[in-house]
Amino acid sequence: MGNNGRDASAPKGVLYIVGTGPGALDHITPAAREAIRKADVIVGYGTYLDLIAGILKDKEVVSTGMTQERDRCRKAVELAVSGRTVAVVSGGDPGVYAMAGLVFEILRNAEFSASSDALPSVEVIPGISALNAAASRLGAPLMHDFACISLSDRLTPWEVIEKRLDAAASADFVIVLYNPRSKGRAGHINRARAIIGKHRGPGTIVGIVRGAMREQETVILTDLENLKDTDIDMQTTVIVGNSKTFAWNNLMVTPRGYELQEVKK
Ligand SMILES: C[S@@+](CC[C@H](N)C(=O)[O-])C[C@H]1O[C@@H](n2cnc3c(N)ncnc32)[C@H](O)[C@@H]1O
Repeated sequence: MGNNGRDASAPKGVLYIVGTGPGALDHITPAAREAIRKADVIVGYGTYLDLIAGILKDKEVVSTGMTQERDRCRKAVELAVSGRTVAVVSGGDPGVYAMAGLVFEILRNAEFSASSDALPSVEVIPGISALNAAASRLGAPLMHDFACISLSDRLTPWEVIEKRLDAAASADFVIVLYNPRSKGRAGHINRARAIIGKHRGPGTIVGIVRGAMREQETVILTDLENLKDTDIDMQTTVIVGNSKTFAWNNLMVTPRGYELQEVKK
């Protein structure tokens, strides 16, 4: 955010929007650690804060519940506008189904833009997203074009989600499914399986990674026909292969097309 026209005497806070990666501390980037080190207030959701408790000692921490994203972002912006150095943290990457967009929406909001001199400087610090973590545990399923679809209909109408599933499946994208299941919508993964199954065979390879890079991590390699909703919860990422994806040695691999290049030579 530029400094043009800013009153140099106004309190100038800093807002870091930080991705803390999928779980364990060793998957946080050095840049994310540094932003957390520099911040005097950390704002985040309880579970994610617990995962990184080891680097939060001596920090003022503002923790909110899972569905309180608005409160969390608003609080972070208010603190930064008051001149503090704030890190608002999300698991994975902060710009993938997380906090970055909401922070910018709030900053853009009239309430804050009215006093644009007080706007904090903002930096987004990327993190390893669940799709990177899950893909690494499965082998190399994302070597070709893929679509990422969240099955949560909390903020997106279910009809839109179905339309996207159908489009991605018909175009033979590898499909990454975030938010595949919760208590309120256990049936969504079965519905998604049926839609994808209209375009792909029952033997299509599917990888299921639960709690990637966390203590209770589980990895399952299966196929569309045998994809069970009971193996899936809200800490799970599901990757459905394309028509070329194969299983080898308990790994999931989507060919990039190098073998075709060999033939052409
Ligand atoms: C609200 S989204 C947040 C995504 C996050 N910002 C990211 O970039 O990974 C939450 C969903 O991400 C996926 N997820 C997050 N952490 C995960 C992990 N450690 N292992 C597997 N899936 C995970 C699950 O699908 C979960 O329902």
